[in-house]
Amino acid sequence: MIKKQLLILGGTTEAYALAEALALRTNLRVITSLAGRTAQPRIPAGEWRSGGFGGVAGLTSYLREQRIDAVIDATHPFAATMTWNAVESCRAAAVPLLRLERSAWIAAPEDRWELVTDWAAARAALIASEAQRVLLAVGRQELAPFTELHDIWLLIRVVTAPDSKLHFPSAQMLLARGPFDLANERELFTAHAIDTIVCKNSGGDATAAKLQVARERHLRVIMRQRPSRPVQQLATTVEESIDWLNRQLLLY
Ligand SMILES: NC(=O)c1ccc[n+]([C@@H]2O[C@H](COP(=O)([O-])OP(=O)(O)OC[C@H]3O[C@@H](n4cnc5c(N)ncnc54)[C@H](OP(=O)(O)O)[C@@H]3O)[C@@H](O)[C@H]2O)c1
Repeated sequence: MIKKQLLILGGTTEAYALAEALALRTNLRVITSLAGRTAQPRIPAGEWRSGGFGGVAGLTSYLREQRIDAVIDATHPFAATMTWNAVESCRAAAVPLLRLERSAWIAAPEDRWELVTDWAAARAALIASEAQRVLLAVGRQELAPFTELHDIWLLIRVVTAPDSKLHFPSAQMLLARGPFDLANERELFTAHAIDTIVCKNSGGDATAAKLQVARERHLRVIMRQRPSRPVQQLATTVEESIDWLNRQLLLY
């Protein structure tokens, strides 16, 4: 049987779930691509590769050489470069593309969210606010804009330790990987007397409990909005993505 070939652009919970759901199909070869940022990544079901493709030209060549029949871009909502590259490459190689992106979090009327478009604006908002004790949950690679804050204490939550050259005069590092549940988040906020959160609108359940605690305690949230993305075919769940794939490749 000739197998159809699917490339999943991964690095997210949804990408792992999609690969898991499709890997045992006999009529499909599933390859997940990881950016290669993590030394010991979680291994996806099916085949996988790691590292950048080399921009639009590199990804276009990869699609042609590997005879990819469809691409599902399930990268993180903030991985904008990869998403734009996927659109251009799939157009150039005439390969159907679906964007799988979890829905963004939406503020409730009682929430105190301040929306910003970049980290420089988040830092400025933090300094302008009365924040004293902050949960900084922006990701290991995006901490640099928050160095040298002398009058604000930071609880920096990251999966793996950041670059040791970054200087945080008043901070504690907390190495932890989600999901984070509500009871533990409540305890954490109490233990550290957190009054403000700085985070990005990742969406999903795994890291949403902190926003619930902020809602309950009427805390300020400085929320980075998602980057703009191309107009394209969009799914918000793994199930929708599988339906699209079945229709696209006539896999029944
Ligand atoms: N940004 C976040 O907040 C975040 C959070 C959780 C997980 N992630 C995951 O971490 C990875 C990197 O995120 P990012 O924000 O640095 O991405 P990005 O800014 O959109 O991508 C930068 C470059 O990294 C390479 N790349 C990104 N995702 C790739 C993938 N799945 N497979 C192969 N190459 C990839 C591409 O290099 P070439 O141009 O050389 O092809 C891309 O141009 C993504 O896979 C994303 O799903 C990101």
